[in-house]
Amino acid sequence: MEELENIAKALVVQGKGILAADESFPTIEKRFLSIGISSTEDLRREYRKLLFTTPGIEEFISGIIMFDETIRQKLLTNSAIISGIKVDLGMKDMAGYPGDKLTDGIDGLESRLAEYKTLGAKFAKWRAAFMISEVNPSIQCVEENANRLAEYARICQANGFVPIVEPEILMDGNHSIDKCYETTRSVLRIVFMKLKEKNINFKAMLLKPNMVVPGNDSGDMSTPAIIAQKTLEVLKEVVPIEVPGIVFLSGGQTPDAATNNLREINKLGGEWQLSFSFGRALQDTALKAWGGKPANINAAQQEFLTRARMNSLARYGK
Ligand code: 13P
Repeated sequence: MEELENIAKALVVQGKGILAADESFPTIEKRFLSIGISSTEDLRREYRKLLFTTPGIEEFISGIIMFDETIRQKLLTNSAIISGIKVDLGMKDMAGYPGDKLTDGIDGLESRLAEYKTLGAKFAKWRAAFMISEVNPSIQCVEENANRLAEYARICQANGFVPIVEPEILMDGNHSIDKCYETTRSVLRIVFMKLKEKNINFKAMLLKPNMVVPGNDSGDMSTPAIIAQKTLEVLKEVVPIEVPGIVFLSGGQTPDAATNNLREINKLGGEWQLSFSFGRALQDTALKAWGGKPANINAAQQEFLTRARMNSLARYGK
């Protein structure tokens, strides 16, 4: 357990954050389509390799979350960066609750972790996502996803992995920032209740939440200062101080918005390290610069390094 606590601390060490590069096949296909290329195994390898081998990136990146295919490609050779693995198996519609989804992957988790350990992984990620509408998320959906997140965390800690617990409230929709605030609070409350019931060691886990933001189509232009204030208000209410770090997802915010919000969050500060575990907000500009062409690899690495540095600075409130 002490080793796990140290890994959790190392992942949120000052000035560094996590790269989420664990896109599933459908998600990476969507990202590649946005730059006009198809998702082949070779292109996926080339793209992830470009990110993982960016010179100097270990100054800003503490860990990388990989997808099953990627960890097997053995692309992460930088020993200063900690290997992580996404272990949930994606989401399915919840029968009887339109709009709600449940995350799968508890079956066989223990044996998958045993194999990932041989591939060098030290931490894991499981994501549950909740849509906001008049009727979503239902309490049944929140409770069942929270049960599974807690069971995942228990299995991780019992098998020598630091669990990243990710309950994401989606930005899609026209809901207000206050609706996001309330939903985030009630989901996180239930998640921590279930984690406590299963005796999870809070010092050996990380929380990966959404920031409290208005819905994409709400027309609300809340400033980073307001987003930071509301985000920290919720977290202070529900997240135990033993948790060493909170690593935000970017959730479809633009890279600049995610970075600016992280900076404001750090200006206010909290009990925990306040860091990032961004996917799109770290990768978008690099992906565009690359465009699937080997000649653009250096330019793409410069973009990635720049985004990583900006988020590192944001951790200092800069
Ligand atoms: P985004 O930062 O693109 O939301 O991705 C983070 C992530 O890992 C979602 O599970």
